[in-house]
Amino acid sequence: MANQNNTNQKVISPKLYIETYGCQMNIADSEVVVSVLQDKGYSVTEDINNADIILINTCSIRENAEQRVWGRLDVFKQIKKKNPAVKVGIIGCMAERLKEKLLEEEKIVDLVVGPDAYRELPSLLEEVDSGQKAVNVILSKEETYADINPVRLDKNRISAFISIMRGCNNMCSYCIVPYVRGAERSRDPKTILNEANDLFQKGYKEITLIGQNVDSYLWQDEEHHKSVSFAQLLESVAKISQDLRIRFSTSHPKDMSDEVLYVMAMYNNICNHIHLPAQSGSTRILEKMKRGYTREWYLDRIKAIKRILPDCAITTDLMTGFPGETEEDHQETLRLMKEVNYDLAFMFKYSERPGTYAARHLKDDVKESEKTRRLTEIIDLQNKLSEKSKREDLGKVFEVLVEGISKKSKDHFFGRNSQNKVVVFPRLNYKVGDYVEVEIIDCTSATLIGEVATKH
Ligand code: 5AD
Ligand code: SF4
Repeated sequence: MANQNNTNQKVISPKLYIETYGCQMNIADSEVVVSVLQDKGYSVTEDINNADIILINTCSIRENAEQRVWGRLDVFKQIKKKNPAVKVGIIGCMAERLKEKLLEEEKIVDLVVGPDAYRELPSLLEEVDSGQKAVNVILSKEETYADINPVRLDKNRISAFISIMRGCNNMCSYCIVPYVRGAERSRDPKTILNEANDLFQKGYKEITLIGQNVDSYLWQDEEHHKSVSFAQLLESVAKISQDLRIRFSTSHPKDMSDEVLYVMAMYNNICNHIHLPAQSGSTRILEKMKRGYTREWYLDRIKAIKRILPDCAITTDLMTGFPGETEEDHQETLRLMKEVNYDLAFMFKYSERPGTYAARHLKDDVKESEKTRRLTEIIDLQNKLSEKSKREDLGKVFEVLVEGISKKSKDHFFGRNSQNKVVVFPRLNYKVGDYVEVEIIDCTSATLIGEVATKH
C-alpha cells in the first residue's frame, strides 16, 4: 500500500510509530498490531517525527492512566500541526470507553480501534487514507488472535509475553476491564505451544503466560470431548525445555488451585513467583468489591503457596479508599500485608470508573486526603517489607537469567532470579541470555547485589 509523506513523495512502506500504556496485555496487543500491519507493508519507526501513522495503545484502569494519554494527545497535536499528513489512531481500552469523546472533541484523532478489532486495522487505515475517520470498537466473544505471530518489540530478545486468554468475567465492582475488553475467552493451547516453541527456537529464554485471570483458563475441545486447564497448559509449556523459564500473571485468589502449585513444584523452570492481588484485607470491603473471596480464604491460599512452594515470592495489588472503607478496614489491610510478608506490591488509590457497579451504586465517599494518607501508610509498610525480603536473601545463591547491562555500571549485568527480583553482578565472560549462579552479598532498596558463586 502506498502513502504520502511530508515531502509529497510516494513511500512504499508507511512508517508506524506505536506507544503503549497500561498492562502486559497491552504490550502483547501492540505486538499483534505491529504484526497485522507489517503483513500489509507497514514498517515500525521509533522516531515519532518520522511517522506516517502514530498509534497510542491506551489504558482506562484508573483516571490518571487516561490523563496521561490526554497529555500525549496534546503532543501529537503539535506534530500534526507541523505535518498534517500524519495520521493519529487511539487503540485499546480508552478507544473502547471513549470513542465518541475522542472523535468529537479531539480533532486530531483519525482512527479509534478497540482491543478486539486489530485485524481490521489495515482496512480502517485505508478508510482514513480516503479522508474519513474510521472506528471499530466491536467486542468479540471469540477473538484471541491465536493465529497471529506477534512481532516482538522488546529489545533484549530474551523474554516475551504470550497472551493465553482475553477479557474477563469477574465483574469486580470497581473494574473497567470487562467493559473495555469484553468477556473471557481462552486461546487454543496448540497455538500457545507453537508460539512458545518458536520463541525458544529463536533463542528466547523466558516466557510469561498472560491473561486477566490465568487460573480460569479453560480450553474446551468440543471435537475430542477434551478440555485443558491452566495447570495442564502450564505443564505442557514447562516441558518444552529445562532452559526455558516460565512465568505467568495474573492469578485470582478465588480460582488459584493447589493443582497449579503442584505443577510449579514439579518443574524447576516454572518460576517461584505468584502475583496474587488481594486488593483489601477486609472481608467487608472484599464483599463490596465483589471479589468472590474473604480474608480467610485469601490467607488460606497464601498458606498453600508457602506450604507447597516454600521459596516462592508473593506479590500483590492493593487499593485504598474504596467506597465505605473505614479506618478499621484499612488497618486490616496493613495487618494482612504483615501476615503475608509481600515481596513487592503495587498500590493504588481507588479511582471511580464510570459505568462500573461501584460507580453506579456506591458513593466514592473516602476523602481524597484520607485516600492519600492510607496509600502513604501502605507504601511505607511495603517498603519495609520489601527491604526485609531482600535482606533475607543475603548469602543465598540464585540462578539469574542475564537480561542486559546494568544502568549504573557498564561492568555489571542485571537479570532476575526465579522470584523475579532484580540481581546485579559483575559481567566477567557471561553474555545476555546466560543462566548464572549468583551469591547475594548486598542489596539496595530495589536491587540485590551479588557475585558469581564459586562452584561447591
Ligand atoms: N481504581 C484503582 N485501582 C484499580 N485497579 C483496578 N481498578 C481500579 C480502580 N478503579 C487496580 C487493582 C488491579 C490493578 C491492575 O489495578 O489493584 O489489580
Ligand atoms: Fe489498563 Fe485494564 Fe486495559 Fe490493561 S486491560 S490496559 S490494565 S484497562
